[in-house]
Amino acid sequence: MFDLDGKVALITGGAKGQGAAEARLFSEHGARVMIADVREDEARVVAGQISNCDYVRLDVGDEAGWKAAVEKTLGRFGRLDVLVNNAAISHFSPIEETSLADFDRVMRINLGGIFLGMRTVLPALRAHGGSIINISSIAALTGRARLSAYASSKWAVRGLSRSAALEFAPHKIRVNSIIPGVIDTPMTREAYGSEKLQLRGEALPMGRVGLPQDIANLALFLASDESSFCTGGEYLCDGGETAGIA
Ligand SMILES: NC(=O)c1ccc[n+]([C@@H]2O[C@H](COP(=O)([O-])OP(=O)(O)OC[C@H]3O[C@@H](n4cnc5c(N)ncnc54)[C@H](O)[C@@H]3O)[C@@H](O)[C@H]2O)c1
Repeated sequence: MFDLDGKVALITGGAKGQGAAEARLFSEHGARVMIADVREDEARVVAGQISNCDYVRLDVGDEAGWKAAVEKTLGRFGRLDVLVNNAAISHFSPIEETSLADFDRVMRINLGGIFLGMRTVLPALRAHGGSIINISSIAALTGRARLSAYASSKWAVRGLSRSAALEFAPHKIRVNSIIPGVIDTPMTREAYGSEKLQLRGEALPMGRVGLPQDIANLALFLASDESSFCTGGEYLCDGGETAGIA
């Protein structure tokens, strides 16, 4: 089950956290994987630990960089089947203290990066169909004080993903988004600190924070042919956080 044999996946932000877990899991299930990350040194180390995996430096907000990353993937592996738009940044500050430059930077990376990624891979995926997985957040389900730029970008990822699903379906390209809850990654450790992160987990219905592997498992399903009728979907993985009041 969930065989990615013969498939090639490009994963943005694959040098750390969830993206690195996805790169590992996809490779274990037979995929060849290109990690695309702005942190070139960390990407090189992670790619070196994974079979059939290479890396390319990419700032997802850079259109020329995207062209080069897709060209490198096609040159190295000969095809492209799966794109995981995972890279994102968070920015904590009240609206009053958020500059337009801060807001633009978050939107450019978290939303513009996904737009550019989907547009750039389209010709390669159109050749035989494929799967695009965009990583959103539970910050796209409610408002978030002191996280307005991030929440706005993640809400927009939902609209962009659904629109792309409709446009790309005739080409047998599926587009789905994943909505992670609190996941134990460098992003959340930096934001909350380890102790607070653990307390947040204990307060969740499932009694723990998510692990990068939890999201990677869902991404594996969406990348595989087992999800061949799934498109335009939003897949929640949050340990019950948004289910309601316990
Ligand atoms: N960790 C969580 O609790 C959580 C919750 C909801 C959603 N998410 C989302 O999941 C995804 C992965 O998050 P994570 O926690 O693994 O993050 P992380 O910060 O641990 O890793 C993000 C990776 O993206 C890379 N990156 C950042 N900016 C980039 C850019 N401009 N171009 C290319 N690469 C770039 C970083 O170098 C890093 O390797 C993100 O989209 C995030 O918004 C995370």
